[in-house]
Amino acid sequence: MLDKNILIGVTGGIAAYKVVEVASRLKKLGANVRVMMTRNATEFVSPRTFQEITGNAVSVEMFGDAANFHVAHIALADFADVILIAPATANFLAKAAHGIADDLLTTTVLASDKPLIIAPAMNTKMFDNPATQDNLKILRSRGATIIEPAAGELACGTVGKGRLPEPVELCAAVEKIFTQDKFLSGKKILVTAGGTVEAIDPVRYIGNRSSGRMGFEIAKSAVNAGAEVVLVSGKSELTPPNGLHFVKVEAAVEMRDAVLKYFDSVDAVIMSAAVADYRVKNPAAQKIKKSAETLTLELVKNPDILRELGTLKTSQVLVGFAAETQNVLDYARKKLVEKNLNFIVANDVTAAGAGFGVVTNIASIIWRGGKVENFAKMSKSELADKIIERVAKLLHG
Ligand code: CTP
Repeated sequence: MLDKNILIGVTGGIAAYKVVEVASRLKKLGANVRVMMTRNATEFVSPRTFQEITGNAVSVEMFGDAANFHVAHIALADFADVILIAPATANFLAKAAHGIADDLLTTTVLASDKPLIIAPAMNTKMFDNPATQDNLKILRSRGATIIEPAAGELACGTVGKGRLPEPVELCAAVEKIFTQDKFLSGKKILVTAGGTVEAIDPVRYIGNRSSGRMGFEIAKSAVNAGAEVVLVSGKSELTPPNGLHFVKVEAAVEMRDAVLKYFDSVDAVIMSAAVADYRVKNPAAQKIKKSAETLTLELVKNPDILRELGTLKTSQVLVGFAAETQNVLDYARKKLVEKNLNFIVANDVTAAGAGFGVVTNIASIIWRGGKVENFAKMSKSELADKIIERVAKLLHG
């Protein structure tokens, strides 16, 4: 039973017809569903259809519902426990990303602080356009859940990404907002991810093969569990997950400063970043020109961030990673003790299906006291959930 108030915003795309089924399914699940439409959306589906399905009046005009509501957009925003925009046109994404409120639907979205789920649907080229992608990035960074469009034949005759996903999928996304177990609510978690970048000169750097995926998944899992999350990331091509504070850094010393800034206020730190152990002692101010047959770079040791946290820690849970190529458990155990961690996640990065750049991992969790949990190959997202569950258990004593 979905005993919630759900506000569906329908914008002007051909996929609007599919949203009739979304409204119907949500209503059957027990929700009180209201629909607001842009004027263009009414060209595709009649407001009367939604009205019959939901049993509620449909709002279109900014000043049209005076008889029903005192201030329509505020009343609708207050009504909603969640807002679902489906289909969301490129035009809607642009307006929402920039705070433009020029009709009832966009004004209501701007006036709401409730969870916002957006299901874009449009022509592939419009979706791929950097303007649209930048708008999606902005909306994601502000916490909106974006349901990726599906690929297939589009109404315009082309084949590609841009279809509105099936109604069941949209309903599942709405339900998920309410059914997630927020077992980390009230807790603050700091996650590090990605590889650090150590400058050689303004053009070159020493880096590593970390994709950042493991850390991003851990951060996402912590957000889903209701935690307030800070994600400090070195180099990574991935889009930061929704609903967290994202801090981008380059060098290990920068990562250390960022981590220390938050350390006192967090309940747990999960260091999955691949931090360079060394940096160039004197990075060149100008691009180094090739001349001599050999070039020697002098490296100095970077601070070991996790070890430092291990000495500073009061009540924080500390989790480290050990990416090894041999003697995995022995090396990992040593790091667990030396860095004063609660547990360490160890993996052999040379194993197929583990390590850098792949979406799966084969890991072991080693605990103080010697207990070892060996996991079969699983997605990094599943492993992230296992790590977060264990952190939560430690935090709840
Ligand atoms: N770590 C860190 N600061 C560093 C290096 C690593 O905080 N300067 C963290 C990593 O995020 C990871 C763990 O420590 O959680 C890895 O331990 P570490 O001993 O540094 O791993 P390696 O660099 O692989 O060590 P070694 O060269 O001894 O194998």
